[in-house]
Amino acid sequence: SSIMHRLGFCAGQLGSLRLRLAGQLLPARAMSLKVGDKLPAMELVEGLEMKKVNLQELFAGQRSILFGVPGAFTPTCSRVHLPSYVRDYDKLKAKGISQVFCLAVNDPFVMQAWSDANGAEGKVRMLSDTQAIFVEAAGLSLDLSHLLGGLRAKRFVMVIEDGVVKQLDVEPDPTKATCTLADQLLQSL
Ligand code: BEZ
Repeated sequence: SSIMHRLGFCAGQLGSLRLRLAGQLLPARAMSLKVGDKLPAMELVEGLEMKKVNLQELFAGQRSILFGVPGAFTPTCSRVHLPSYVRDYDKLKAKGISQVFCLAVNDPFVMQAWSDANGAEGKVRMLSDTQAIFVEAAGLSLDLSHLLGGLRAKRFVMVIEDGVVKQLDVEPDPTKATCTLADQLLQSL
């Protein structure tokens, strides 16, 4: 029916084709954030007021943790990953971490509901990368079109000091949480 069908593409294929084309046409955007890099000066969204927050401002002068998840309310993220940071928040503070953030490619209303469901308020702040701009720029995007309907975040954790990435761990299998859990991170702080 659509032009996509006539060209022989399904929606998922078109999604990955778009990404590949974007990578070829716009190589400057396809950078990978690595240890030693400063966070990009981009804006994400926080909370029900859809407040725009600038990453460089948010992380300036602080020792922070930013962990990313494939999706709010997905099984591993909800049962294991987010709860680990809520549970160990005081231990992280005791190790000199001043703020903890969770990032996902979900809208801020979903992120708020997920925070409420996990008692994360006042401990883990939720950052919405609704358009996947951060994860694409950081080389941390994951095409989960087939499972969750679009581009999402890999499961990762960063330690960020005054806006500079000091440690970065990415799960080899995004459906599992191992090296990115709070208790694992605590051992390396
Ligand atoms: C999870 O359980 O966290 C998950 C499920 C499907 C895709 C990615 C992650």
